[in-house]
Amino acid sequence: MPSNETSSSMNSSWEQQQLELKEKILRLKAERNAVILAHSYQRREVQEAADLVGDSFQLARAAQDTDADIIVLAGVSFMAETAKLLNPDKVVLHPEPGATCPMAEMAEAKAVREYREKNPETLVVSYVNTLAEVKAESDICCTSANAQQVVESLEPGRPVIFLPDRNLGDYLNKKIGIDMRLWDGYCPIHQRLTAGEIEEARRLHPGAEVLVHPECEPEVIGLADRALGTTGMVKHVASSPGREFIIGTEEGLLHKLRREFPDRVFHLAAEHLVCPNMKSINLKKILDCLQDLEPRVEVPEEVFEKARRSLTRMMEIV
Ligand code: 13P
Ligand code: SF4
Repeated sequence: MPSNETSSSMNSSWEQQQLELKEKILRLKAERNAVILAHSYQRREVQEAADLVGDSFQLARAAQDTDADIIVLAGVSFMAETAKLLNPDKVVLHPEPGATCPMAEMAEAKAVREYREKNPETLVVSYVNTLAEVKAESDICCTSANAQQVVESLEPGRPVIFLPDRNLGDYLNKKIGIDMRLWDGYCPIHQRLTAGEIEEARRLHPGAEVLVHPECEPEVIGLADRALGTTGMVKHVASSPGREFIIGTEEGLLHKLRREFPDRVFHLAAEHLVCPNMKSINLKKILDCLQDLEPRVEVPEEVFEKARRSLTRMMEIV
């Protein structure tokens, strides 16, 4: 095991490396007229090199509105596809194409198409955590930030199926008082957070407010003070008189929270709340993709327009 001195010099050489990478990225980004959009579950150093750190909706909006020629999307692949769909003329780079979202892969286009054929009356609402082919089979998309508004905008009286996240769908059903059918998908990261872990975190930090993502299980949501998407959590902290918070979502959000609210205390609800796919992007991969202008995101032509339509419907509502 390295001594404290050795490990602190290892840390400082790692920090130095990251600073050098960041400087190179910033230079190249300016030369190429590129913008770096990072999800708030990204590594701290990636967040610090980004032009914007936000939730999936904010990334989509920024990708749609940017004047940059190149968008580097530091997030999982559905976020990079969404950027391409909303701004087709730009080059969209995804530094690690293997950074996919396992929940998105729980809904296959073929199964959604078959469901639609059997249930032609049913409206299909897709969480943005879906593949482009599934968005193409959907009536409208939503994110955790706008799901309630999107669902409330639907034609009344029509049956609805929500996919792929059964936990977010169940949360919306209860909150709005509706009865959407739910696909059987889930986020493997949020799903692992247990009621026992919330109780233990409350015992360790009495008085702290508990905020969890609606991708958590209903029992966990039931024990929390609030269920909020990542931006909802940031907004809630900004307006809350509370000083201490237990955060039930991916650990990356704590970097953003600690940077924006240095006077507050944040505890991760459980150590295992880490999405390895989000974490598979690093500064070296961002620099490489800016140098090579690869890997580029492409969406198959046969689904492009339909997938884009489901997304733009969402963007028009909020
Ligand atoms: P947000 O929509 O809150 O950014 O969450 C995206 C996500 O992947 C949650 O696990
Ligand atoms: Fe997908 Fe969950 Fe990772 Fe979000 S945290 S990208 S939903 S696996």
